[in-house]
Amino acid sequence: MRIGILTGGGDCPGLNAVIRAVVRKGIAEHDDEIIGFRDGWRGVLEGDTVPMDLHAVRGILPRGGTVLGTSRTNPYGVEGGPDRVMASLERLGIDALIPIGGEDTLGVATKLAEAGVRVVGVPKTIDNDLDSTDYTFGFDTAVGVAMEAIDRLHTTGDSHHRTLVVEVMGRHAGWIALHAGMAGGANVILIPENPFDVDAVVAHCQHRFDSGYSPIVVVSEGAKPKNGDLSLTTGEKDAFGHVRLGGIGAALASLIEERTGREARAVVLGHIQRGGTPSPFDRVLATRFGLAAVDAVHDGQSGVMVALRGTDIVRVPLSAATAQLKLVPAERYAEAEVFFG
Ligand code: F6P
Repeated sequence: MRIGILTGGGDCPGLNAVIRAVVRKGIAEHDDEIIGFRDGWRGVLEGDTVPMDLHAVRGILPRGGTVLGTSRTNPYGVEGGPDRVMASLERLGIDALIPIGGEDTLGVATKLAEAGVRVVGVPKTIDNDLDSTDYTFGFDTAVGVAMEAIDRLHTTGDSHHRTLVVEVMGRHAGWIALHAGMAGGANVILIPENPFDVDAVVAHCQHRFDSGYSPIVVVSEGAKPKNGDLSLTTGEKDAFGHVRLGGIGAALASLIEERTGREARAVVLGHIQRGGTPSPFDRVLATRFGLAAVDAVHDGQSGVMVALRGTDIVRVPLSAATAQLKLVPAERYAEAEVFFG
């Protein structure tokens, strides 16, 4: 078979492990020809391809980013986009497509599958907010990076008797903040799912100072206070209509400083969470997803996504996985709240 593969949306540690697994299994077990599309859906729209043979995937397992490149190109936001995608796949003789992405990339895949393209999706996002899978690869690595930052910030914060606010990624879902904050012993964790009470945040910080230590506040970039909107955006939007977030950490730090009368600083982890080498968990999960995607293609499946359920890799309908985001449930946030203050 001739199988097309692409990586779309924000990059994520583990993408190369999926690509390697698809190429290795496809070639070794099925004599497939794997065609890489450069920069996500842009490569499909423009027919920009690269042959993915065994040589192309040598040594890429531990590498962060994606050897195929990525973009936030949305074929459904481009004049004649879906027709151009169909024509491109036809011209290149692609029998099946394996898109690796999050809600946006796989949302496009869902529509293409409905239009008759043979598609098997692979879930990817450091945010872990894709539905129908327990975990996406990249999340564990991002949490590890954020946790290490929190560990380091504890000692410098305590030495200077100041609050440190750590802004982590998470546009709609607070999974990174929740897990990194819990693992790192944060004194307050703020997530988009639960608009926060500024007075309560200040009281937690004050309590921490009163106990002789300095507070660490972990905040998702998409978190908002109950009254008003503290986050700052540039107003700039990507092809899928998402505004560029950022600024909640700095805004919160100045508010905490003003209200506690003690210095507060903000640290924005940003793309550090997305770069670099994947954790062992992510390498294994990404590899298993890649192997399972090839199996699904050869079983004649389409319109499905490979997913993690417990320790098993299963197949779920793409339409179900992309219908809504997987948000942090109230009971998971309540577990973290026990440690606030
Ligand atoms: O979707 C993954 C993600 O890392 C989000 O957490 C974040 O809001 C967004 O990507 C940032 O995207 P970009 O790098 O395109 O600004």
